[in-house]
Amino acid sequence: MVEQAKEHFEVYATYLTRKPPLNDSRTFQVDKTNQQSIMALFQELKPEVAIDTAALHNVDYCETHREEAWKVNVEGTKTVAEACKRHDARMIFVSTDYVFDGVKGDYTEDDDANPVNYYGLTKLEGERAVARICSKYLIARPSVIYSYVASTRLESSSGKPLNFTMWLTQKLRNNEPVKIVTDQYSSPTLADDLAEVLLKLANSERIGTYHTAGRTRLSRYEFAVKIARKLNFDEKLITPTTTDQLKQVAKRPMDSSLSVEKIEKDLALRAPTIDEALDRFSQQFFEVEIR
Ligand SMILES: NC(=O)c1ccc[n+]([C@@H]2O[C@H](COP(=O)([O-])OP(=O)(O)OC[C@H]3O[C@@H](n4cnc5c(N)ncnc54)[C@H](OP(=O)(O)O)[C@@H]3O)[C@@H](O)[C@H]2O)c1
Repeated sequence: MVEQAKEHFEVYATYLTRKPPLNDSRTFQVDKTNQQSIMALFQELKPEVAIDTAALHNVDYCETHREEAWKVNVEGTKTVAEACKRHDARMIFVSTDYVFDGVKGDYTEDDDANPVNYYGLTKLEGERAVARICSKYLIARPSVIYSYVASTRLESSSGKPLNFTMWLTQKLRNNEPVKIVTDQYSSPTLADDLAEVLLKLANSERIGTYHTAGRTRLSRYEFAVKIARKLNFDEKLITPTTTDQLKQVAKRPMDSSLSVEKIEKDLALRAPTIDEALDRFSQQFFEVEIR
């Protein structure tokens, strides 16, 4: 996102432990739970727009580390919102499709949130804090974010693989069989597409909540098979399973797919289909792998 943002903005990036590979000094190490350092950073940079993507995002880890999850996803988000308010900055908070219970699917921004796990609950509380504290706020809800990047460290500090597609391609490359659920549905979102939409929102005067996902609803199994085919891996390594059999620690919403009608209408754009996005994903993959 930083590279895309540079075309329109003077950009400063932050990280916690995984320093982004940027070739300049505009990168700051900051912990969003540290109120003093967040306030000091805002005082120094005085941003016009702050895009908050930082979260404890490992769903199973959040379920068993509730205090830590609340501290980052709720308290930390409140701190960023307060800093935005103090400096009259526009805040874009990246939330999640996991604020929904997954009963209905194809959720619009008017549907009621009702998270089924602790991660979803903390992100929803984060959303509420942002809306309460900031007047110039945007809440962006993507779903299953993916990308292919060159990275030496594939796990975040809460032990989550960099993303589902990085995890999957690593397994398939090593000829390791994987079991993927056929009964969890979502709207996978290519990170570059999300970045583009977030920057359009940043450039707009819009306020409120937007679903910023890919246009196609599909099961995690269908998604995995499409990736294997696109990248010429052996799709027989992917075995279908069900949520009941997988026994994940935290409960999952079964269909958290998102309607993108509102963002398409308000920003006059068209969200990419899964096949369009996977074309770009495979380009990223082959560029990184051929290098
Ligand atoms: N991944 C998905 O499928 C998905 C779907 C919907 C929404 N989201 C949301 O999208 C956003 C981006 O998540 P991501 O999963 O794509 O991966 P990501 O950008 O790698 O994850 C979030 C980042 O937050 C950082 N972080 C954790 N605790 C922090 C703290 N106390 N202060 C500052 N930074 C902290 C992590 O740093 P370390 O790497 O050092 O741990 C990690 O780099 C999150 O807000 C997430 O809730 C993700």
